Amino acid sequence: MAKVVFMEISFLLNGETRRAPVADATQSVLDWLRAEGLCATKEGCNEGDCGACTVIVTDPDGSRPMNACLMMMPHLAGKALRTVEGITGPKAQLHPVQQAMIDHHGSQCGFCTPGFIASMAVAHQTGRTDHTDFLAGNLCRCTGYAPILRAARAAAQMPVPDWMDDPARINASTCAPSAPDREARAYLPQCADDLAAWYSDNPDATLIAGATDVALWVTKGMKDLGRVAYLGGCRDLQQIEQTQDQIVIGAGVSIARLRHHLAHSHPGMGELLRRFASEQIRQAATIGGNIANGSPIGDLPPALIAMGATLTLRLKDTRRTIPLEAFFIEYGKQDRQPGEFVQSVNIPNHTPDLACYKISKRFDQDISAVCGCFNITLDGGVIATARVAFGGIAGVPKRAAAFEAALTGQPLTMQTLQHALPALETDFQPLSDMRASAAYRMQTAKALAQRYLARQLGDETTLHDLSTVAEMRP
Ligand SMILES: Cc1cc2nc3c(=O)[nH]c(=O)nc-3n(C[C@H](O)[C@H](O)[C@H](O)COP(=O)(O)OP(=O)(O)OC[C@H]3O[C@@H](n4cnc5c(N)ncnc54)[C@H](O)[C@@H]3O)c2cc1C
Ligand code: FES
Ligand code: FES
Repeated sequence: MAKVVFMEISFLLNGETRRAPVADATQSVLDWLRAEGLCATKEGCNEGDCGACTVIVTDPDGSRPMNACLMMMPHLAGKALRTVEGITGPKAQLHPVQQAMIDHHGSQCGFCTPGFIASMAVAHQTGRTDHTDFLAGNLCRCTGYAPILRAARAAAQMPVPDWMDDPARINASTCAPSAPDREARAYLPQCADDLAAWYSDNPDATLIAGATDVALWVTKGMKDLGRVAYLGGCRDLQQIEQTQDQIVIGAGVSIARLRHHLAHSHPGMGELLRRFASEQIRQAATIGGNIANGSPIGDLPPALIAMGATLTLRLKDTRRTIPLEAFFIEYGKQDRQPGEFVQSVNIPNHTPDLACYKISKRFDQDISAVCGCFNITLDGGVIATARVAFGGIAGVPKRAAAFEAALTGQPLTMQTLQHALPALETDFQPLSDMRASAAYRMQTAKALAQRYLARQLGDETTLHDLSTVAEMRP
């Protein structure tokens, strides 16, 4: 049954139940915290890039670091929020990561430190030891990362303090609304059926999943979004279902869960997802949002198109499934009707031949200039099927149809590739923009194709192992 929206939400704040009247349906958690006087959580970039605003959010999926500048207050309903004030114990005891930061000289000006502490406390609590990946969404301008990484490693040996034990979901009765408001601007559907009914009646409303795009329309674009629906309560959109021949991934599945789930069955994709933004963004961002935003530089679409994914869209009770590439019509235009939403993405069970290459200016926390994804199968040394897709080259993520045709039926050799490469110029007429020039993009697309073929022919093409460099420094 549809849950009527109430602009008063309940959640746990540093272990205490709080009811917060939310006057503004898109107010950020960061603004709310600082207005409440909880000013340890800092505002740096206010766009998800620096991690100064990192807080800990706990729900049935566990504890995770989140950017408070991108979370909106309705995201918090029924969850537990812990800020740096609550990472310190009730009798002002230091958390092991705080003590370790002191012992290892991990803080100078201190502006970034609360955000680091929040991320490190989650790693400490959840047993994550891939600190360079886990902390890549926290920037420090003065200390340098080696002391911080040393502190994170040292703290890992210490037990988790009992005050950090937040329940996965707060008591349902504490979520009960004080006064229903059917005219409220924010709707919190509890399942896909609720969403389908409401969205078909409110097709001009904005759907908000992880808000890693939408929040910036508010904080940077200063937009008033009007009526909004928060999809986070639709648990049925967050399922990953394995059928006999495919994996059905709900639109609300986060990039972090996707990465975890596909690491073994789709290793090429798993590695790409490691490069997707930062841990904080991966925990918030959803697969549905990454597709529905229609961005030509989203990381998932080229990979999903190369693996042959389909997209299931829902309008009221009608569902339709289309090849993912057909969804992207042209820049800014997708095959989606008013009131229709992305329900799931359906991918094959395994794609052992898939390789994805993301080219960006930085290794971590950067958007692609070019993303090339290749999935070529062989039959006795001959290319039987070729699915190749690029992001960042055309106005939409797109298959390289002419290039695929030039490869199919040919022997897997460098000579075949050299013959096929000019077809990429038929497939794409790249644009120049601030990320890269058209010439660079085309040259890079060709280089990635060469790199993939070299890998298929048995050459070692993995160049990066930057992750250990900082940790190895004394
Ligand atoms: C600091 C930073 C770094 C980033 N790095 C990357 C990166 O490395 N790679 C990358 O690809 N992207 C990156 N992004 C962009 C963003 O994180 C992704 O596009 C993300 O997947 C969006 O998902 P979301 O759930 O946050 O979407 P939201 O912001 O909630 O929504 C995005 C759009 O999709 C719509 N929408 C959401 N869910 C649905 C649905 N189920 N049906 C229909 N419409 C829906 C919304 O209405 C909105 O138009 C980055 C963003 C930031 C702020
Ligand atoms: S303030 Fe920079 S990530 Fe939130
Ligand atoms: S200690 Fe100054 S930014 Fe990190």
